[in-house]
Amino acid sequence: MEATLVEPLALPQQASHPLEQALLNLGVEATVLEEVESPSFTRIKISPSHKVPFNKIAGLGDTLQISQGYQNAPLITPQKGHVAIDIPKANAERKFCEYLDYCGYLGSSFTVPVGVDINNNLVEVDLSSSVSAHLLVAGSTGGGKSEWMVAAICSLLTRFTSDAIQLYLVDPKLVEFTKFQDYQQVTLINENNVAIETLRKLCNVMQERYELFRKTRSKDLSEYNKYHAKIPRIVIFFDEFSAFVSGEFKNEFNSALAEIAQRGRSAGLHLILATQRPDASVITPLIRSNITARIALKTIQSQDSKIILGTEANGFDSSKLLGKGDLIFSDGGTFQRLQGLYVSDCDSLLANIETKVLTNEASPASLDELHSYPGEANAEDTGEAISALGQMPLNQGFLKSDSKIFALVKLKIAENMAGSNDATEPLFNEIWGLTPEEKLLALRYLLNQKIGKENAISILWNRNSGGKYHSKYQDCSNTYERMILELKNQGYSSHNYWGFS
Ligand SMILES: Nc1ncnc2c1ncn2[C@@H]1O[C@H](COP(=O)(O)OP(=O)(O)OP(=O)(O)O)[C@@H](O)[C@H]1O
Ligand SMILES: [Mg+2]
Repeated sequence: MEATLVEPLALPQQASHPLEQALLNLGVEATVLEEVESPSFTRIKISPSHKVPFNKIAGLGDTLQISQGYQNAPLITPQKGHVAIDIPKANAERKFCEYLDYCGYLGSSFTVPVGVDINNNLVEVDLSSSVSAHLLVAGSTGGGKSEWMVAAICSLLTRFTSDAIQLYLVDPKLVEFTKFQDYQQVTLINENNVAIETLRKLCNVMQERYELFRKTRSKDLSEYNKYHAKIPRIVIFFDEFSAFVSGEFKNEFNSALAEIAQRGRSAGLHLILATQRPDASVITPLIRSNITARIALKTIQSQDSKIILGTEANGFDSSKLLGKGDLIFSDGGTFQRLQGLYVSDCDSLLANIETKVLTNEASPASLDELHSYPGEANAEDTGEAISALGQMPLNQGFLKSDSKIFALVKLKIAENMAGSNDATEPLFNEIWGLTPEEKLLALRYLLNQKIGKENAISILWNRNSGGKYHSKYQDCSNTYERMILELKNQGYSSHNYWGFS
């Protein structure tokens, strides 16, 4: 009798996790690796069988919403070594990220907070970095653009004084930024024509800064600020910029935008542009090519997401976000889902920040002041780039002829370095004839230039430690030490570059 071979019956496959089962029912073999809770969703990390391409899983969001009864379609994204399926929490269960709980983690460099990641870490974006000097923030109404900008503005106002930042807040709706108008660092702009005029002036400021850097042989603002009187970074926030892209100011806006986006970073100018109209006519190729760091809040359609984040944002679809600060951040290469910070009590947060004193004098934030660099007028006389050396940031005010002193000291340093002993009278008599107060200023300049004690004494009193002036050298040395002490008493130190940084 011939034996009959019976095909073994295929055992019904059993999954240990409901999502594994749901995927299996849809023909996708995958193993659940881990579940992680975030304030707004539960992330289920799965490892699909090697036969399943990512796009097949990515296309299952709507079907899973129906079969599993999720409140929204899950966001399905590729991650390193796994696929993340973010199951949204019901609205009532969602939690938010209060600014005060995270601001202690803000770094000291020129960053703004972007949001909190799945591991509860604060993610910041560094505006002084070349990939993220400018930001695009887009999403439909209620997505959380204004709240995001409020958190960013608060983070700058609480960490940087007006000599380090100036903020230009363009708010045609007259609602979002009015609360910031009294702060020294802030210039509030409510009218479109004023916004355009300001952009134009800021382009000039940028130009002048480049000129200043060229004269002082500084690579960029960071380097310049290390050695000279600080000039502030400027951040321009647009709560809604779509009106500028196509309206009567289109040409001026586009040319200023291109200029600042392309050359602003080195000069310390940064743009943060927000819009609730993420369509191709607003987020133009000009913006897309110049602003690579993007924040997508919830959008209506997937198409909008592609316009904000680019088509390469495979799976990162902002139409699947939950609104209210749920966002996707792209720094030009990687994508991250984050929850934006929420400032619940702006007034108390900013209570200790200095507001503007209303006097007849121009406000410190005025453009005219940004145009002028300390000591500029006298710098012309010497043909030297000493323009930024004269400001005394510790509220010491200006001495009458400080730039002249710097010019003289500078020439004297050159003379000293060249090893020449025969001082060219009467030019150097002037330096030896300085008043004690002026000598202090000159000494600060020498210290700032890292000129050592012996050379400083030689410059300030024409005394060398050897030779015929030897007997008087000790006197000068004592005076020098007394002056150093006096400067320290005034609050200067090597930490603040003797008051010049
Ligand atoms: N990060 C957040 N955390 C918690 N709630 C938020 C957050 N962001 C926004 N919200 C809530 O969503 C509401 C709308 O946010 P927001 O005004 O920032 O939206 P928008 O994108 O600026 O909208 P529009 O385009 O209409 O100006 C806020 O009033 C707040 O209640
Ligand atoms: Mg808004």
